[in-house]
This record gives sequence, structure tokens and C-alpha cells, in this order.
Amino acid sequence: MNTKRFRLFAAALALGSMSAFLPATDASAQAGKPAKALVLNANDAMQFDKKEFKVKAGQKVKLTLKHTGKFAKNAMGHNFVLLKPGTDLQAFASKANMASSTEYIPKSEAASIVAHTKLIGGGESDTIEFTAPKKGTYTYICSFPGHYGIMQGKFIVE
Ligand code: CU
Repeated sequence: MNTKRFRLFAAALALGSMSAFLPATDASAQAGKPAKALVLNANDAMQFDKKEFKVKAGQKVKLTLKHTGKFAKNAMGHNFVLLKPGTDLQAFASKANMASSTEYIPKSEAASIVAHTKLIGGGESDTIEFTAPKKGTYTYICSFPGHYGIMQGKFIVE
């Protein structure tokens, strides 16, 4: 371990001990922990390979969406859009359908979106980092027109 790395390590330890004095909320219990890496694959058959993820409230999440197919973004584009509980999926999707200029992320519905990747085509991937929100069952979808009915899953925050 070189000096610079050791200093970082010592700083991380100091941060860790300080957080012991904070109230033990879900969020602070997760502070300073490495991000949880999640991978979601999407293919040319309009499918996600996972229907459920589980994370802890306040946990840092590093999610990678991979398009394992070959079709171009304008024909079989995929994204990952994490929506707040209670979002009307059908209403959201119809707004998304009209939002081609923002790659099917409807600006008018920003308040319903927890996090999202960019839209990708075959062979591409996108990685996003975000903090898991409060406990609850969230839904993720692909907001490309016509996809959300099949391309959706549960993102459970415990
Ligand atoms: Cu899609």
C-alpha cells in the first residue's frame, strides 16, 4: 500500500468511525459502503433478463444496462427507468411514447422518475449510479414505445 492509498484508507476509517455517532437510520447505515453492482441485460426479443432486484434503503447502487442484441437503437432501443411507487404505468408510458426528442424520457413526468439510463441499441451499455430510495416496491420499465408491457420488473428496497 503506497502512502497516498494509505491516507485514503485512513480517511475512510475516520469517516467510518464518525458515522458510528450518527443515528442508525437506514440511510446512514449504508453511508460509505461500496456501491452494489447490478447488471440488467436486454435483448432483441424485447426482454429484460431479470424481473426483480433487491437493495437496501440508502444503499449506493451501480446499475449497468446491457443490450445484448444487434438491432439499432431506433428499432429496438432499450433503457431502464425506475419509477416511484404509485406511478400510473400506462399514463407514464403514453407520455414517454411522445418524448422521442428526449429518448422517451418525458420531462413532464420527471417527478415520477427515481433514476434512468440512456437509451441504447444493440451491443451498447450504460452504467448509472444512484442512491436507493426509501423502503418500498418500485417498478422499472423500458420506456421505448411498446416495450413497457413486457419489459418491466420490481425493484424492491428493504
Ligand atoms: Cu426496450
